[in-house]
Amino acid sequence: ESTGRLIVLSNRIPKGDVPAGGLVFALHEALTNAGGLWIGAGDPSEQAQDGLTEIGSDAYTRFTFDLTETEHKGFYLGYSNSVLWPLFHHRSDLLEINAEDFEAYAAVNARVARSIAAILRPDDVIWIHDYHFLMVAAELRALGVEARIGLFLHIPFPNVTDILALPEAAQFPTWLAAHDIVGLQAQRDVAAAFDVLRQDERAQVLKEGTWGLEGRVFSVLSFPIGIDAEGFAETAAAVPTPELQLAPKAPLLIGVDRLDYSKGLVHRFQAFGTFLAGRDEDAPRPTFLQIAPVSREDVAAYQDIREELERAAGSINGAHADLDWTPIRYVRRHIDREHIAALYRRADVALVTPLADGMNLVAKEFVAAQDPNDPGVLILSHFAGAAEQMEAALLVNPFDETSFAETIAAALTMPLEERMSRHGALMRGVFEQDIAWWTTTYLDRLRDGVPSLGEP
Ligand code: G6P
Repeated sequence: ESTGRLIVLSNRIPKGDVPAGGLVFALHEALTNAGGLWIGAGDPSEQAQDGLTEIGSDAYTRFTFDLTETEHKGFYLGYSNSVLWPLFHHRSDLLEINAEDFEAYAAVNARVARSIAAILRPDDVIWIHDYHFLMVAAELRALGVEARIGLFLHIPFPNVTDILALPEAAQFPTWLAAHDIVGLQAQRDVAAAFDVLRQDERAQVLKEGTWGLEGRVFSVLSFPIGIDAEGFAETAAAVPTPELQLAPKAPLLIGVDRLDYSKGLVHRFQAFGTFLAGRDEDAPRPTFLQIAPVSREDVAAYQDIREELERAAGSINGAHADLDWTPIRYVRRHIDREHIAALYRRADVALVTPLADGMNLVAKEFVAAQDPNDPGVLILSHFAGAAEQMEAALLVNPFDETSFAETIAAALTMPLEERMSRHGALMRGVFEQDIAWWTTTYLDRLRDGVPSLGEP
């Protein structure tokens, strides 16, 4: 077993404080436990050179790689977020394909690979994160790197039919095969990956989860990501609820998402509107607090979803609000992680209802934040990777507005006993398969190695 350094690569890297939630927070937790190097994108500049710049060091050391403004457009806004992101979230209608973007993506991936190869020591292991770097491992192999390389894809895996919309579809299996481990969030992603690989005549199944392609052997496995459940629960219990201008027991529903078309925010608002239209007028008036900081604003599809959502919020509030009641509170500003934790604990219901999502850590954070003696109810979309592990949630189909609205009503009136039993089941999963479990399971597997071709 190797004991070399851990080298983590992800596009987003904290430049100062570690921002709340999501991939970056998970990697921070993982590296704090394991130590090592973390490499991410620097701010775009006029010139870009090979090599890495150190930007900070404590439990682990952080570095950035260079990229130009043009590369940022093509690599990040273009191929990563206008091709791979929509495609992997089953939204090929939103694709914006052009050859220069792919060129920038390939160029950035190649530069990152050269920069990693230059600092590599024997026994180091490389852990690549997400869709921004699908070609880095192949580039490293082309440079002769034999180190163990793992990929973890934080987003869903595309279906066989999705992938046909990618101009580079024929190369995609080769990119995957350059890794030793391809880690995915959910079993359904592994199934989708098997379907895609089966379409490639060169790929052969060697044994459960292990594939051969052009002389390389690699495993495709699921490792559902977790959170620092203990830490999050402590924060939620310790931090006072921010001022909400609500009666202490007024029913509160909460949603926290990056403003992204994959999150199903418009469907969610509409289902809440349908619920409001049919609600019992004598029951206490509910407030739905949606926190949705803007994201990837320079991509057209993100400007469109923002406008659509604002229209939906305005129209639903217009129809149902009263002099002293605004049913939907839509907050776009950044809210601190600890305040979010306290808000989860105060909330009666969480709406985690993406149309497609790799895992969704909000679902897990909401559960960890609850008071076990008076827990809130999680409404979770079937389309979140988390649904595979969190069957005790109220699972919904976000496209079915009527049943979604009925589920909101059921959540708001669920008796304490049922809330406690569902929460208890969810809590066990969130605490057992936490972020430390995820890191250890993945890295043990990566360091262990995989059988070579010809081994029984
Ligand atoms: C998702 C992706 C991450 C990404 C994050 C924030 O969680 O899986 O790779 O970093 O969204 O998006 P951004 O484009 O702002 O980095």
